[in-house]
Amino acid sequence: MSMGLFDDVLGAGESLFRNEDALEYEFLPKILPYREREQKELARLVAPLLEGRNGRNALIHGAPGIGKTAAARFVMRELEDESDEIEVCYVNCWQANTTYKVLLELCDALGFKFTQNKNSTELMKVIASIVNKKSAVLVFDEIDKAEEFDFLYSLLEDLFKKSIILITNYKSWLIELDERIKSRLTPELIEFKQYNDKETRGILEQRSEFAFVPGVWEPKAFDLVVQKAALAKDVRTGLYLMRQATLKAEAKAQKKIAEEHVKEALGAMDEFTIKSSEDLTDEEKFIYDVVKKHDGKKIGELFNVYKKEGGKASYKTFQRKIASLDEGKFVTLERKTGEGGNTTIVNRKITDF
Ligand SMILES: Nc1ncnc2c1ncn2[C@@H]1O[C@H](COP(=O)(O)OP(=O)(O)O)[C@@H](O)[C@H]1O
Ligand SMILES: [Mg+2]
Repeated sequence: MSMGLFDDVLGAGESLFRNEDALEYEFLPKILPYREREQKELARLVAPLLEGRNGRNALIHGAPGIGKTAAARFVMRELEDESDEIEVCYVNCWQANTTYKVLLELCDALGFKFTQNKNSTELMKVIASIVNKKSAVLVFDEIDKAEEFDFLYSLLEDLFKKSIILITNYKSWLIELDERIKSRLTPELIEFKQYNDKETRGILEQRSEFAFVPGVWEPKAFDLVVQKAALAKDVRTGLYLMRQATLKAEAKAQKKIAEEHVKEALGAMDEFTIKSSEDLTDEEKFIYDVVKKHDGKKIGELFNVYKKEGGKASYKTFQRKIASLDEGKFVTLERKTGEGGNTTIVNRKITDF
């Protein structure tokens, strides 16, 4: 092919991906940069377990998509390598949102299979008998999605040596927690701050080295991905765009991922594509839909619309959900002082992709 006409064309069976799985949100890279302080803090809290003493508890909090889950899993992995005397369990409370489901997950993580016909009390006994021979680090991710918290109380009471690590996007979640549990938990708060632009770039570069055949990204296209991820302040936006842009390029049999492919991917994206399925409960989605349709209303008016459209929650719960949407970056709240006193205006948050 002397003219090189087909040099830019991707052959059948060729791919721009080297390992597409590396773009999965759950993918855990070999090193986790920019979170050294947070990982050290976590390590310090669980360290007493290594010496046979009781550990400390933690509440990790911060916006979505900034490495909270990744950092916790990283520390867990290190700990598993370090010692056989510590059981390490991870439960996502989005999936396991009741006491019974959480205890089933813990049994599973502890290798106990005979869970049929056992109720929560019996499962808890099994867990205590296994863990109390050793010690345990128990991580409960997306803890705000749990609908019951009895399991926390039982674990705090019945396990001798443990660290309980809770992760949430919403720091305000702790305020609502039952006093009985809070006073036993007394967690250290570990705040995850958002990445700056340079860190966002570093993370996406590292990930792209795992995911792509070297040299397939045109620098301008990659810059655009970084820019959008930095704007959204969410690494997942970058991962999502990298994958979608690459699929666009491949669909056109291109050997390079160009700016136009990223733009196409951007066109098909909104706040929801990236975050919704993972971060919002059905009730939160319902409320968010109400906000979307009635942008810029006072929170009281919005509550009336919500009721009319079939919403069941009390005003207090509604306010709390709105506050959590705010922390989750789905809405922005504006406090206004008017004649009738203070009020809150709820606006839909729009990242200008
Ligand atoms: N410091 C980091 N280094 C490498 N990858 C990171 C880092 N922080 C976040 N990520 C990646 O970004 C994505 C979102 O992080 P995640 O831990 O799921 O966020 P969160 O739990 O805070 O919502 C994951 O795929 C994660 O691997
Ligand atoms: Mg997470």
